[in-house]
Amino acid sequence: MDRRRFIHNSACAGISLTLPPARMQAEAIKKTGLAEVFKDSFKLGTAISTNTLSGKNPPILDLIAREFNAITAENAMKWNSIHPSDDLWNWELCDQFVSFGRANSMLMIGHTLVWHKQTPSSLFNDRGKPISPKKLYKRLENHISTVVDRYKTYIAVWDVVNEAFDEKVGWRKSNWYNLLGPDFLSQSFEIAREADPTAHLIYNDFRLENKKKQAFTIQQIKKIKKKGVRVDGIGLQCHVELDSNKPTIQQLEETIINFYNEGLQVHITELDVDVLPNAWRYRDQHINDLSEEADKLNPYKNGLPKKVGILLAERYEELFRLFIKHQDKIPRVSLWGTSDDETWRNYRPVIGRTNYPLLFDSKQQPKRAYFALHKLATDS
Ligand code: GLA
Repeated sequence: MDRRRFIHNSACAGISLTLPPARMQAEAIKKTGLAEVFKDSFKLGTAISTNTLSGKNPPILDLIAREFNAITAENAMKWNSIHPSDDLWNWELCDQFVSFGRANSMLMIGHTLVWHKQTPSSLFNDRGKPISPKKLYKRLENHISTVVDRYKTYIAVWDVVNEAFDEKVGWRKSNWYNLLGPDFLSQSFEIAREADPTAHLIYNDFRLENKKKQAFTIQQIKKIKKKGVRVDGIGLQCHVELDSNKPTIQQLEETIINFYNEGLQVHITELDVDVLPNAWRYRDQHINDLSEEADKLNPYKNGLPKKVGILLAERYEELFRLFIKHQDKIPRVSLWGTSDDETWRNYRPVIGRTNYPLLFDSKQQPKRAYFALHKLATDS
């Protein structure tokens, strides 16, 4: 018996007719995981934290097995985790990730091969001196081919390059760009393709609904395709804000259509809905050090007010309505995490806030947004 069926059957066995109606309804909904109800539209994924992969949070793993059918490692596969120095590889957590995915027959997404963040500082140095472009290229080649080759029969989708573009200046002036020039993008795709010719390779970025960034991204992807390099998909991160209503549904819809018209499959890769006031101007500060602003910036530290929970559910619902409408273009929608206790939003941009961006609360119980999506999928 597969794990999902096993869990399903166990849950059925536990139902008693004396349960109050609301509880019964919750149990009934939970018996069919969310991925199951969306299965005719797209895969439904989540990101697994390093904490959970290390086995420190078994209830989240059970929840993921029940509710999702695609997984991304939130941090464990980033360069500084998996390959902290030239000759050191940490495979353990990534192997763990793959064996969990295999045990539950999930689509696995490799995140991410090339990014300007979360890289070891030694990567761009050669015994204390800035590295030469030639040596850096060798490191790039070695990294991508080693990682892709190791997981090639299991990881079907790769975020090959993450965030290479900037909405203001075009190419982000990262170490990759500064040392290897714009070719690092096509080179990364070529190396990954060679390591696994059948993998689905995507370019991933945030705020691609920004017209300028979108046009630049399309232009660069077109250029590398012209050189004969295949790019299969675009990853729209979709870190959404409740406060500002950004991006709007219309912006997102245009973005999905525009990339699809370029011959790219559209993946929603890191969806969450930030319910707190925008605090990027206080980036990396601790909430306790922002004495005057603290209450304003962290308004729900004692719990999410019902009316905000309703707004959150409505926001998720309109997003998923759009994804369902464009399901022919969208093979997968992934949340950036499962429950609010583990979200990066509690420490970015400001450390120590209490945010509520996901479908399960910090006790791993389904929120109103979860039920809204369940109903939406069942009714569609
Ligand atoms: C970007 C990256 C993710 C993650 C988030 C913050 O979106 O692609 O891996 O680091 O930032 O968690």
